[in-house]
Amino acid sequence: MIVLGIETSCDETAAAVVNGSREILSNVVLSQLDEHRAYGGVVPEIASRAHVQHLDGIIDRAMREADTRYADLSGIAATAGPGLIGGVMVGLVTGKAIAASTGRPLVAVNHLEGHALSARLTDGIEFPYLLLLLSGGHCQLVEVADVGTYRRLGTTIDDAVGEAFDKTAKMLGLGYPGGPAVERAAREGDPARFDLPRPLRGRPGCDFSFSGLKTAVRHAVAGLTDRVPRAKDAADLAASFQTAVGDVLADRTANALKTYAERHAHARRLVVAGGVAANGYLRERIEAVCAATDFSMSAPPPELCTDNAAMIAWAGLERLRFGLTDPLDAPARARWPLDEVCPPACRRPAGSMNTDGEDSP
Ligand code: KG4
Ligand code: ZN
Repeated sequence: MIVLGIETSCDETAAAVVNGSREILSNVVLSQLDEHRAYGGVVPEIASRAHVQHLDGIIDRAMREADTRYADLSGIAATAGPGLIGGVMVGLVTGKAIAASTGRPLVAVNHLEGHALSARLTDGIEFPYLLLLLSGGHCQLVEVADVGTYRRLGTTIDDAVGEAFDKTAKMLGLGYPGGPAVERAAREGDPARFDLPRPLRGRPGCDFSFSGLKTAVRHAVAGLTDRVPRAKDAADLAASFQTAVGDVLADRTANALKTYAERHAHARRLVVAGGVAANGYLRERIEAVCAATDFSMSAPPPELCTDNAAMIAWAGLERLRFGLTDPLDAPARARWPLDEVCPPACRRPAGSMNTDGEDSP
């Protein structure tokens, strides 16, 4: 099987081609950094226009680098949500147009499912596993039982973890994109200088909260002598913030691992995914929790943690194997929780015909 993936749900315009042997034949990502930098964050209208401007060229490049013809494709997978609705519409309608003109099936992919299944593409991880999804819009612990079968153990009750990184970067004058800038600054900083809160740490359950931490960073900035962080202040605050996030993630993940292990004694696997999973310090903290509880941890390489179309193509391919395709009037969705991706009723039995007319593996 060979699938073309299209991703436009935020500020990356991306196209990729992957095959059923877990080979990434091409993976083209255009980050719209320059378009949004002046505004200190992603401007939805500018993002949509940039997707319109660049997507055709990005798809063309992905197909050429993969040395693949449209006639060779088993399907076209496009992100159908959740995300910035204008951008999602651009990618989805482009995917529909390619599907209509080539006669190949469309798979309308949930962006979170793309992140959730990405470690199966990069590391061949088997079901079931526990997923820690850390992105710009989400922070969740999810049991992944199979394609389309997800059960949420916990989620953030306010901000997403990536949002906390981005807002902290803005307050510290570190610019955009925020997450990598905070990680870089934190390397030079003293994590013990600022005493920041660890929301929900020590409490039962697997939910997260980051808004109190964000507010504490704002108060710390306001408390600096001249109220503008100098390089040393910014580094110390970035390190203190990142350490607090690490403490929270370690605590909540430990609770989830315990709950998960009670139900799945023989599948002690944690997958970490989403843009914030590119953070080396946080990966180490989570790996330490896994090691202490006899879990193995997998995380895609950093460039496949942040938004990309290879994960969308792969999620599409996994769904195609079950014959799960979508009609050309599939809607674009701003909101689309992972546990609503595929109710069991829409599921066809394994071994049913896929859209190529071959037996599914
Ligand atoms: O998964 P993603 O690329 O897009 C969404 O689906 O949201 O995640 C983007 C988020 C942004 O908040 C970005 O600041 C954060 O991931 N991020 C990081 C790092 N790289 C990206 N956060 C912390 N450390 C990083 N190295
Ligand atoms: Zn994402």
